[in-house]
Amino acid sequence: MNFNEELRDRVRYAEEMVIKNGVMQEDGYQKTVLSAMNYSLLSGGKRLRPVMMREANILFGDEHPCLAAFMTALELIHTYSLVHDDLPALDNDEYRRGKKTTHVIYGEDMAILTGDALLNMAYEVVTASFKLCNDDPILINRAIRALQVLTYKAGIYGMVGGQVYDVEAEDKDIELDEESILFIFRLKTGALIQSSLMIGAILGGAKVDEINIMEQVGESVGIAFQIKDDILDVTGNPKILGKPVGSDVKNHKTTYVTLKGLKTANNDVEAYSRDAIDQLNKLDKRNEFLEELIKFLIDRDR
Ligand code: IPE
Ligand code: IPE
Ligand code: MG
Ligand code: MG
Ligand code: MG
Repeated sequence: MNFNEELRDRVRYAEEMVIKNGVMQEDGYQKTVLSAMNYSLLSGGKRLRPVMMREANILFGDEHPCLAAFMTALELIHTYSLVHDDLPALDNDEYRRGKKTTHVIYGEDMAILTGDALLNMAYEVVTASFKLCNDDPILINRAIRALQVLTYKAGIYGMVGGQVYDVEAEDKDIELDEESILFIFRLKTGALIQSSLMIGAILGGAKVDEINIMEQVGESVGIAFQIKDDILDVTGNPKILGKPVGSDVKNHKTTYVTLKGLKTANNDVEAYSRDAIDQLNKLDKRNEFLEELIKFLIDRDR
């Protein structure tokens, strides 16, 4: 198995699905915001969440007819989270995915509305795809349960909740300890990764205890991913990253690196990734590519 080629193929497929289902016609009086939605969506993200979702689906069963819509929806939600994360009121960053951020190009008002529209579009795309189930009750039941996970993990007990405490701690100069920083990581980053793995599993017909295992896997991958993101904010190359380094220092954020130092942070990326793979190995099925992907993310440079 050539992992890099397989990854390239899968990212390309995810990209095609996002373009097919998520890119809008830029016309009408809402043209500006439609153009901003496409701008933020079509800008070379890694597409990891839709790729992982598909791998989780095929780990448990056949591709569900709504899979491509869910892949797109999660990428739309993730993209909205980035557009809002970069706003002057939040992290105030000027580059994302190798281009100027949405608020720099379109203004803050349009960037706020672009985020809102991307979030809503996610639910439009998913619910419109339910007809592909052709009234099959098993497929519809899976799609509804997957939608419930998509909404929950994006919300106040998921990504938004993590962003809230991340921003509040920064504004109020609250000194974060390990417990509170892990709370933030679990939610702001872990929740959408959990969403990806759990939705894939549900669509593929996983049982409750298998979905719970995927939730655990997602939590560990998410924590590893955010520790690495904090590391790259210090050691990364902005040309490769596509976003600025030093954003966390600029915002006086407590990060995993300021809390634990680079060496421990690097060790912990490995430890959480190993934990994720151990969790995966509790299943009686295997997806070698998914395991390789989790390992690959340990040494990512973007
Ligand atoms: C960035 O996510 C935000 C975090 C949760 C750390 P990604 O690193 O997956 O961003 P893109 O989609 O590749 O731009
Ligand atoms: C943000 O974490 C995670 C989101 C939910 C958007 P960061 O603020 O560290 O993400 P980057 O570094 O801007 O991508
Ligand atoms: Mg942030
Ligand atoms: Mg940020
Ligand atoms: Mg960061």
